[in-house]
Amino acid sequence: RQAIIIDTDPGQDDAIAILTALGSPEAIEILGICAVAGNVPLALTLDNVRKLLELANRRDVPVFAGAEAPLTRPLVTAEHVHGMTGMDGHDFPPPTMPVQDRHAATFIVEAVMSRPAKSVTICALGPATNLALALALEPRIAQRLREIVWMGGAAVEGGNITPASEFNVHVDPEAGAKLLASGAEIVMMPLDVTHKARVTHAWMEEIRAIGGPVGIALGNLMTFAKGADERKFGKDRSPLHDPTTIAYVLQPELFAGQRVNVEIETGGYYTRGMTVVDWWGVAGRPVNVTFMRDIDAPGFFALLTDRLRRLATD
Ligand code: BDR
Ligand code: CA
Repeated sequence: RQAIIIDTDPGQDDAIAILTALGSPEAIEILGICAVAGNVPLALTLDNVRKLLELANRRDVPVFAGAEAPLTRPLVTAEHVHGMTGMDGHDFPPPTMPVQDRHAATFIVEAVMSRPAKSVTICALGPATNLALALALEPRIAQRLREIVWMGGAAVEGGNITPASEFNVHVDPEAGAKLLASGAEIVMMPLDVTHKARVTHAWMEEIRAIGGPVGIALGNLMTFAKGADERKFGKDRSPLHDPTTIAYVLQPELFAGQRVNVEIETGGYYTRGMTVVDWWGVAGRPVNVTFMRDIDAPGFFALLTDRLRRLATD
């Protein structure tokens, strides 16, 4: 079993990622879930993590509050995609499970340092703020981690919040840059991959048909998320981002990418938050990322269906 920490800002697609991980207990041990400000402010992402765990009857998974704001900039949010709560579309009961009293960054350091080297993976589904804080507290976690799988960035595909920048990188480019400079093994799932994972109505109905509280909640969330996305991308064309990180932990062979140097532009007026990928090694800077480019989309959706169905019926 792979020990993982999920760092997240739920978020509609974060919700599907978290539930997929919860539906994979044979392969994934979730050490804890860290909330970060991103799609909506921290108070809401923290509530949303707890709502999802309670939906899945997993109050045993510890939840940690992380950063309320990016390292140096005011928070940018994405209610236009995720709704005012971050998980609009489904009415969850108010969450009651506790939040742990340690900061998410402290938890990350303690969990990684107390476990065997190369045994913990972080799946990062939001801005990299908590990870940058953890790296500042204890830089040795970079070498001790197995890897960090981060949904973030965009190369050829272009940005989704500015022409140059993908949302998670855009919100906290300084944190992202610190992460990429840390020396950790990093796998990035950019828009170049997630824009090849398009949610169809047929798949959505498959998930809704799972039934039970989980199937109903997922159906409602996806109906909301697709409404916003399809206005931009067209019918049956809305991309699914964050679950790629969990799918990678479960079945890395679904993805193909390239080991390259990636830097994040923190200064440009038009390009702040851009992920600059050195495909041809022309800059001579060290390779620091496995930057994914391709996904076996049918295999990916089949995997999600299987895990979400298992979660709903177990
Ligand atoms: C990323 O931005 C967020 O809105 C999504 O949850 C995802 O993590 C996609 O650019
Ligand atoms: Ca997210």
